[in-house]
Amino acid sequence: MEKLKIRGGGQLVGRLRVQGAKNSVLPILAASILVQGESVLQNCPDLKDVDAAISILRHLGCKVKRQGKDVHIDSKAITRCDVPDDLMREMRSSVIFLGAILGRMGEAILSLPGGCELGPRPIDLHLEALRALGADLEEVGGNIVCRTEGLVGTEINLASPSVGATENVMLAAVCAKGETVITNAAREPEIVDLAAFLAASGARISGAGQSTITISGSGLGKSTTHRIMPDRIVASTYLSAVAFVGGRLELLDAEPTHLETLITALRAAGCEITVSGQDIQIESDGKLGAISPVITRPYPGFPTDAMPCLLAASVKAQGTTVFIENIFQNRYRYVEELRRMGAEIKLEGRVAVVTGISNLHGARVDATDLRGGAALVVAALGAEGETQIGEVHHIDRGYDSLEATLGGLGADIERVND
Ligand code: EPZ
Repeated sequence: MEKLKIRGGGQLVGRLRVQGAKNSVLPILAASILVQGESVLQNCPDLKDVDAAISILRHLGCKVKRQGKDVHIDSKAITRCDVPDDLMREMRSSVIFLGAILGRMGEAILSLPGGCELGPRPIDLHLEALRALGADLEEVGGNIVCRTEGLVGTEINLASPSVGATENVMLAAVCAKGETVITNAAREPEIVDLAAFLAASGARISGAGQSTITISGSGLGKSTTHRIMPDRIVASTYLSAVAFVGGRLELLDAEPTHLETLITALRAAGCEITVSGQDIQIESDGKLGAISPVITRPYPGFPTDAMPCLLAASVKAQGTTVFIENIFQNRYRYVEELRRMGAEIKLEGRVAVVTGISNLHGARVDATDLRGGAALVVAALGAEGETQIGEVHHIDRGYDSLEATLGGLGADIERVND
């Protein structure tokens, strides 16, 4: 079984270019089936989830080729409108293909995505919105069967600013007749990147990044080349790691505006952070102060995905730090693993209270989910002795060449198979 072996204690020093964003490339790969031509996506990260999305595109009839960090998609000859169960199970966010397949083919058949490590993940907002656009939906034998004689633009008010539901509506609405207005839309940077791709392919779309997005159905006639934005959650992982173990890091191509809440928290903990253009530089002596309560919220609030690594970085801080999770029910599954390493963390429902300790020790732990796994890597870098992290497949879903990147900054890390 594959494991990561990390011997902690060293500082991290160097520079790195941030990989492309997983949560942007996935909806854009889904959007590529709406393009009557070829799409070229640059800065595509090498991830398990990207492989899963490419398998779905090929299953639908797209021609897909990868050249380094570029992915070429030719979606002219799509023949199918179903995503088989095994591909849906590989990646929960395959549900974002629903709006695109329905828009392109007038029919879409997907197996119902179950919950995941983070708790129940209903898609009621997605389905309600597609119905409002004129789709008939029924559940048949664990599948969602979605059909339309022709989608028609309308006003859609989302009960909560779901990222996935906003993306699904955007993809269906570019194929609808007339105008769609989404209110209480998600404002995440990944929504803005998706809108940029759609606009470059011929869509008329405005307001992405704000709570109201307007889309005039026009279809996507133009082949286009699009550079995927940097991954703000991966950037936050490396910033939290350097904050925790000490050192100096220059993050190139990081888009600092996407990381304001994290930068504020790390500065409050005593890190020196400078921003110049797209680059961020952090210096830390590894002796962090406690951080004021960290409360996760939809963007521009503190991102739920950045919280596990910041929590790991606070386990040796001077004093107590409180974390409040508002997005997912089971976001703290990795905490039990941190406790195996000696961390002092009290959990009460959505609240975690972390009391700083002087030393963390290595242990045999398992990744519980993608960001929980990353938090264990951060903790291991600052622990005495060796840590072995199992279930690394969770981490590979979102981090491109993690060992090589951390190794390049001086970390003692290796992947072993035993
Ligand atoms: C996206 O998931 C991200 N995934 C997640 O990142 C991220 O944590 C999440 O947004 C929040 O920022 C991708 O972009 C691929 P939501 P998504 O719909 O779209 C509830 C990572 O580590 N909800 O905004 O699934 C839902 O259960 C992953 O990279 C409904 O109740 O998130 C959750 O509690 C993890 N009904 C909350 O809303 C719905 O129909 C936010 O979900 C839809 C969502």
